[in-house]
Amino acid sequence: MNNKLLFMSSVLLAPMAGVNDPVFRRICRRFGADLSYSEMVSALGLAYGSARSAELLYIDDMEKPLAVQLFGKDPQVLAEQARLLEEHYGSDLALIDINMGCPTRKIAGKGEGAALMRDPALAERILRSVVEAVSLPVTVKFRRGYDAGQETAAQFAQMAEAAGVAAVAVHGRWAVQLYSGQADRQVIGRVKAAVGIPVIASGDVYTPADVRFYLQEEGADAVMVARGAQGNPWIFSALKAGLGATPQITLTERVAVAREHLCGLSELFPHRLAAMRKHIAWYFKGIPGAVAIRQQVNNCLQLADYLQLLDDIQSGRFNR
Ligand SMILES: Cc1cc2nc3c(=O)[nH]c(=O)nc-3n(C[C@H](O)[C@H](O)[C@H](O)COP(=O)(O)O)c2cc1C
Repeated sequence: MNNKLLFMSSVLLAPMAGVNDPVFRRICRRFGADLSYSEMVSALGLAYGSARSAELLYIDDMEKPLAVQLFGKDPQVLAEQARLLEEHYGSDLALIDINMGCPTRKIAGKGEGAALMRDPALAERILRSVVEAVSLPVTVKFRRGYDAGQETAAQFAQMAEAAGVAAVAVHGRWAVQLYSGQADRQVIGRVKAAVGIPVIASGDVYTPADVRFYLQEEGADAVMVARGAQGNPWIFSALKAGLGATPQITLTERVAVAREHLCGLSELFPHRLAAMRKHIAWYFKGIPGAVAIRQQVNNCLQLADYLQLLDDIQSGRFNR
C-alpha cells in the first residue's frame, strides 16, 4: 500500500512493551485502531532463538497486518532479522519499525533504543541496512531529543528520510524525561517541515481535540495512542467518532472485554497470565470499587481466580 495512504489520518495503537499482547491488539483493532504495533522485540533475542522474543511475534488473524517493532544496535543483526520476518510473515506485516526512542536503562544503557539518538551515524547505518534488506516499509520511532533542551528530532528525521525510511514516528518528550511531564506537540510541526515522508505523532493522545491538534495544527499524518488505550480500547471508536475520550462504558461491557482479554491470553500464553493484573486494574480504573478490585486482582493466580473476580465485579460486589 502507498505509505501516504497507509498513514492518512490514521489512529494507531502505539507500541507498548508489556502491554500489547495479541489479544489486546486485536481488541483495539476491533474498536477502531487502524493499525496496531507489537511490543518491541529484540533483534538479538530473535537471532539467539529466544522463545520470549518469538512469542512476541504471534499474529492473530484479526489484527493483520501488524506493525512489528524491533530494537537493537547491530545493523547486520537488525537487517537479517527484518529479512527473516519478511520472509516468514510476508503480507501479515504492515511495516517494520525500528525503536530509537526507548529510554530505559535496560535498553538505552546498552546503546539501543533512544541511545541511538546520540549516535546518528550508527542510527543511519542501521536504517540503511534494514531498508536494503526488506521490501516492506521500514519506519523509525524516536523522541524529541535525548537530553532536555537539545531538540534533534528534525535532523534525526532528515537522516532517516535520507536512509530510505517510509515514515517517522515522533514522541515529543526528551529521552531523559521518560514518560513524565507533557509531550511537546509542536515538535511534530517542526519535523513535518523538515521532511517529505509521513510523520506519526505520539504523546498524550486522549481526546478528539488531541487528535485534531496533531493532524490539523501540526500537520501529522497519523497519531498513536499509548497510555490512553490502557484499559480503554474504546478510545479508538471515541476518537474516530469525535466523541469525548471517556465514553460511558457499562460495567457489563468492561467485564465482557476484560474476560475476552483474560481468556484469550490464557489460551495463547498461560504463563503470561500475571500480565492481566495490570490490565484488569486499568479496565476498572475510576469506577466505584476500583481500589478494592486492584487489591483483589493482585491475589489472583489461576485463570479461575481471575474469572471469579470478574463475576464478583459483574455482580456488583465491589460496588457496595
Ligand atoms: C508501558 C509502556 C510501554 C512502552 N513500550 C514502548 C515500546 O516497546 N516501543 C516504543 O517505541 N515505545 C514504547 N512506549 C512509548 C509509547 O509508544 C508512546 O510513545 C509514549 O507512551 C507516549 O505516548 P502517551 O503519552 O500517549 O502515552 C511505551 C510506553 C508505555 C507507557
